[in-house]
Amino acid sequence: MPDKAILEVCLSPALLPLYPVDDKVVVVVDVLRATTTMCVALDQGAEKVIPVETIEECMRYRGKENHILAGERNGRRVEGFDFGNSPFEFMNGVVKGKILVLTTTNGTRAIKLAQDAHQVVAGAFINFSALTRWLISEGRDTLLLCSGWRNKFNLEDTIFAGAVIHHTKEYFLVDSDAAFAAEKLYLNSRRNMMHFVKQSSHYRRLAHLGVVNDVKYCLRPDLTDVVPILKDGALMKADIRRDLEGEFFVLGPLRP
Ligand code: MLT
Repeated sequence: MPDKAILEVCLSPALLPLYPVDDKVVVVVDVLRATTTMCVALDQGAEKVIPVETIEECMRYRGKENHILAGERNGRRVEGFDFGNSPFEFMNGVVKGKILVLTTTNGTRAIKLAQDAHQVVAGAFINFSALTRWLISEGRDTLLLCSGWRNKFNLEDTIFAGAVIHHTKEYFLVDSDAAFAAEKLYLNSRRNMMHFVKQSSHYRRLAHLGVVNDVKYCLRPDLTDVVPILKDGALMKADIRRDLEGEFFVLGPLRP
């Protein structure tokens, strides 16, 4: 038995069956934009975020008191929904005290796929330090699950996984090709992350929709200390051990 817990990366939801997760923490990563939006919603006072896989499932909550329907397909707001998936839509008090029901192309699907894990949390650059502190304090085997794009590898989630590995690897046992590759990608991109992310297919999709500011926002580190954790099918704020507050991991100069 290794002394340290294992930190591993799954580069696509399609590969998840290769990783037993029932005893692990799974960090679902969809930097652009689902997991960033989840952090924003909880940070802005949403009571919880219910991730659902299909539009039909989301529709079942229509008209329920205190519930807000949100979601996108291919980056565009779903017709008839109150909100899309831009983090900016959930600021300025609109979600305070509300329950957000969210369906997205990849991020909410990845959460559903991982739901039988010991614990499921959501990771994004905007909660990077809070998330990494939480992972270290849990000290459990952890899988970083990149949501990718329709089961394909993507750059931005892999770069994020590499950042987690780089900044926490002294606390974990890290020993896989995927983790090695993700860390290298992060180290190559961290001085000019926007330049790298501009090469990604989802950047082009979002740029086409005129929401480059969303991308810039999603690459900003440490805007919140919220760690969304899945409990009874909904994401809520995890308890953060305050004694770890002093420990801070600096991502270095990101230049979105
Ligand atoms: C997703 O789940 O694929 C997304 O977060 C897409 C987006 O809205 O940018």
